[in-house]
Amino acid sequence: MDAKRIAVFSSKPYDKHFLDEANQGTGLTLDYFENRLKWETAKLTEGYDAVSCFVNDIVDRPVLETLVDNGIRMIALRCAGFNNVDLVAAKELGVQVARVPGYSPESVAEHTVAMILALNRKITKAYNRVKEHNFDLDGLLGFNLQKSTVGIIGTGKIGLATMRALSGFGCRLLCYDPYPSEEAAKYGEYCDLDRLYRESDVISLHCPLTEESYHLINAQTIAQMKAGVMLINTSRGALVNAQDALDGMKQGKIGYLGLDVYELEGDLFFRDLSGKVLHDDVFALLLSYPNVLVTGHQGYFTKEALSEIGQTTIDNLQAHFEGRQTGNEL
Ligand code: NAI
Repeated sequence: MDAKRIAVFSSKPYDKHFLDEANQGTGLTLDYFENRLKWETAKLTEGYDAVSCFVNDIVDRPVLETLVDNGIRMIALRCAGFNNVDLVAAKELGVQVARVPGYSPESVAEHTVAMILALNRKITKAYNRVKEHNFDLDGLLGFNLQKSTVGIIGTGKIGLATMRALSGFGCRLLCYDPYPSEEAAKYGEYCDLDRLYRESDVISLHCPLTEESYHLINAQTIAQMKAGVMLINTSRGALVNAQDALDGMKQGKIGYLGLDVYELEGDLFFRDLSGKVLHDDVFALLLSYPNVLVTGHQGYFTKEALSEIGQTTIDNLQAHFEGRQTGNEL
């Protein structure tokens, strides 16, 4: 195989570490770009044979057309979700797209549980208080997860791993998925969304972002939930209408909000904006609420997951150049 050159977009030092490790001895040359792939940066792909992208790269038709003009026929996603890629255009233009479908679902599931516990037991508030030598407990009251009802929306790999972890706490689990699985049914009871919204103390989203799931959580669905519900989204930002969630918090309907993803995270996450003014008022307001916990899309961020992402991405690229299928093609 001739030496193939890959342009790796949205890359950070940790991506380079794990990709270089997986790439040893393959003959692929990886060049790292910190920029996101989008129309303005697509020109950088001249002279490359493939690109590798992440969650906030914008792989729409104009970008795909530029890639094709530069002779590129392969996009290796370093993530499971692919809502940022125009797959119809990719197919029409003959560009293969492969993803990393199932890397360490426990990484995201464990982060989900961490968010639930941190919000419930007000860990950030407690941490700050104790640092100031304030050992007062007033305002830190939590609730037992045991016997509380957790509703899981999407019972694929991550939803199932979350259910397994939460069953260890003695939670009562309700779940919804258009394609129920026997494995998930061992841990929880499938029901329709109306019942899940009505009965859950905690609701956690684990479905992909699609046309049907866009703004799944909105003013109407929030109105169906229990007063004081805890809502967790570690899946994709646009599953939640953030303005409606903010209104739900103001009304006291949503008692706690945990977000690892945000609809407009593309201009915010994965970079250091400390000292900068945030121009997104909804996001800034959400951050100001004491019962909101936001993390910057770090659910996947464990060494096990990054190692698997690196390995699978390199395998996907090699398979493409050798004319093999891996099953990870979209
Ligand atoms: P998966 O494909 O194994 O499972 C997704 C499940 O959602 C499937 O069972 C599917 O039938 C179900 N589903 C589809 N549409 C639905 C709907 N409208 N309502 C309810 N369920 C629906 O995917 P996996 O690996 O469990 O990942 C889930 C999502 O987690 C990904 O799509 C991605 O957006 C997100 N994710 C977030 C990460 C993070 O770092 N925060 C990292 C990896 C994935």
